[in-house]
Amino acid sequence: MTLLYKADPARGQAWQVLFAEAAPDLPFRLWPDAGDLADIRYLAAWQPSADLVASLPNLEVIFSIGAGVDQFDMDAIPPSVSVVRMVEPGIVQGMVEYAVFATLALHRHMLDYVEAQRQTRWSPIRLVPAGERRVGVLGLGNLGRAVIERLKAFGFPLAAWSRSAHAIEGIDGYAGIEQLPAFLPRTDILICLLPLTPETRGILCRESFAMLPRGAGIINAGRGGHLLEQDLLEALDNGHLSGAVLDVMADEPPAADHPFWHHPRILMTPHIASMTQADSAGRVLIDNIRRHRNGMPMHGLVRRDLGY
Ligand code: NDP
Ligand code: OXD
Repeated sequence: MTLLYKADPARGQAWQVLFAEAAPDLPFRLWPDAGDLADIRYLAAWQPSADLVASLPNLEVIFSIGAGVDQFDMDAIPPSVSVVRMVEPGIVQGMVEYAVFATLALHRHMLDYVEAQRQTRWSPIRLVPAGERRVGVLGLGNLGRAVIERLKAFGFPLAAWSRSAHAIEGIDGYAGIEQLPAFLPRTDILICLLPLTPETRGILCRESFAMLPRGAGIINAGRGGHLLEQDLLEALDNGHLSGAVLDVMADEPPAADHPFWHHPRILMTPHIASMTQADSAGRVLIDNIRRHRNGMPMHGLVRRDLGY
């Protein structure tokens, strides 16, 4: 029941210590010291190559180091191997902080004020009460749910969109592609916290922007593949959208001449909205391995037919 870790070495070293202290019964191997590959039942990785997966004849579970699994080549993973995404409190906390920061930045016109400061302009903008700013979250999973719960405190009218319907107190719920046209027009600040799947790729596009009210802002902390970058430029440049906060990009890092770098209506961050925290995530990993060994359901088990 050996675990092989192949990702960021600093986190790997922290997990090696944690496993030795908290789970001495679970052998931990840190890449490249993989030992006998036939021993490996569990693999924790960010982007396991097809060759690595094929070299592990007794693999039972692949754990993603992050919340997303879109970086996995699912076709290279045998159907008998379970795939598990990271569901841990450190990622949630980071994303809640980022989404609250980005929502408040758009709500309180921070892109305008940064530009005004650069231009030595002192120009106040009318403060819109939170009760008049409608916030909508795409994705009501582990992250979207925590974000929306935290946003309640500000008094924004809140709504969320997901694949299946969820009832959450104080939140207008929309589900399925057929309800997207009802969700978008009531949304002044749109936060994308979806997983990247064939169904969600390119969801932030000209057609969905056109359904948002004029002056809306968007936040993308899901994946770069959710956004059609040219469509965003068009919507910002023609004034239909007022701003965008982007943590993820189609290419990371974007090329030096990418138009987003110097766009006055875009605030870009280098995929830092949240990060897997070694201690809390390591404990979740240990718990999940124990669950698997005991025939119990693991937290974050991916439905491979849905891609998340
Ligand atoms: P979850 O799997 O917990 O939640 C996914 C949500 O998206 C669910 O509500 C699901 O609906 C909804 N969804 C999935 N497909 C569709 C669809 N076709 N139509 C409508 N709704 C859909 O994921 P997490 O909340 O843990 O993470 C979300 C994503 O955030 C990750 O996949 C990753 O890409 C990104 N992320 C980004 C980070 C960053 O630093 N920028 C850090 C961590 C994660 P339902 O509830 O019906 O299943
Ligand atoms: C993740 C990420 O998926 O950091 O966890 O993007």
